[in-house]
Amino acid sequence: MNFRELLLNNRKFLKAHDWEEIPPSPEWEPDFRKGVAPPLLEKTHDPEVETVELVKIDETGLGTMSVRDAIGGRMSRRNFGDEHVSLEELSFLLWVTQGVHSVSGDRASTRRTVPSGGSRHPFETYLIANRVGGLEPGVYRYLPLEHLLARVEVLGDDAKGRLTEAVEGQAFISRAAVVFVWTAVPYRAEWRYNIIAHKDIAIEAGHVCQNLYLACEAVGAGTCAVTSYHQRKMDEFIGVDGDEEFTVYLAPVGKV
Ligand SMILES: Cc1cc2nc3c(=O)[nH]c(=O)nc-3n(C[C@H](O)[C@H](O)[C@H](O)COP(=O)(O)O)c2cc1C
Repeated sequence: MNFRELLLNNRKFLKAHDWEEIPPSPEWEPDFRKGVAPPLLEKTHDPEVETVELVKIDETGLGTMSVRDAIGGRMSRRNFGDEHVSLEELSFLLWVTQGVHSVSGDRASTRRTVPSGGSRHPFETYLIANRVGGLEPGVYRYLPLEHLLARVEVLGDDAKGRLTEAVEGQAFISRAAVVFVWTAVPYRAEWRYNIIAHKDIAIEAGHVCQNLYLACEAVGAGTCAVTSYHQRKMDEFIGVDGDEEFTVYLAPVGKV
């Protein structure tokens, strides 16, 4: 494929699927129409793995800034202070980005604080925690159904260097108190939408990150959306396979 073809091909990704050009065929029927059971709503975690309780949204007074002030003040912030983000603040930021309102009776879908086509919610949230009150520095994964954190790994002395390399030298990212890394589990959306799932996944990542931007404003923190990263190095950093689950978006968070 030459460069022009590649460009046109990538533009297609942003368009609605052209069913006249590529008509539906039985083999393209999504799994949900074939009666295949829905994928899990979140990745399972090893029950032996240590989990950390988060503060429930009803138990925190955070987030009372007006929508107008949060939107008016929002900007990308890259200069982070040395302060810790508290576990309560982190709990709030996780809830605004992926918090679950309800689970459907058949456990096929969830309603959350962000919208998702067909309520598929194809993301997992990993945290690279450097300075979070009460949390040992490490990689954690958010369990939105339980509103818990599961530990993925402890950070070694080389973590800062490895992270900076994985984000193409953007040093402000490893200076953040905590870095949100969103992965996509594409099958969660493909199960329902098959070959037209992927545009929605990309759009939905934007909804998630925008909530993080606004909520950060409300807790005296700041964030910056990041898509400049090295795919393999980032996937290796958080320990995902790169095919069935891979990094799509990052957002470092710190006090400003
Ligand atoms: C999809 C997306 C990807 C971005 N990637 C990066 C990035 O890799 N590094 C970075 O420093 N800023 C990144 N940004 C932040 C933009 O540079 C920033 O939004 C832009 O300069 C406008 O500034 P504002 O957000 O303060 O309005 C990204 C923003 C978006 C929406």
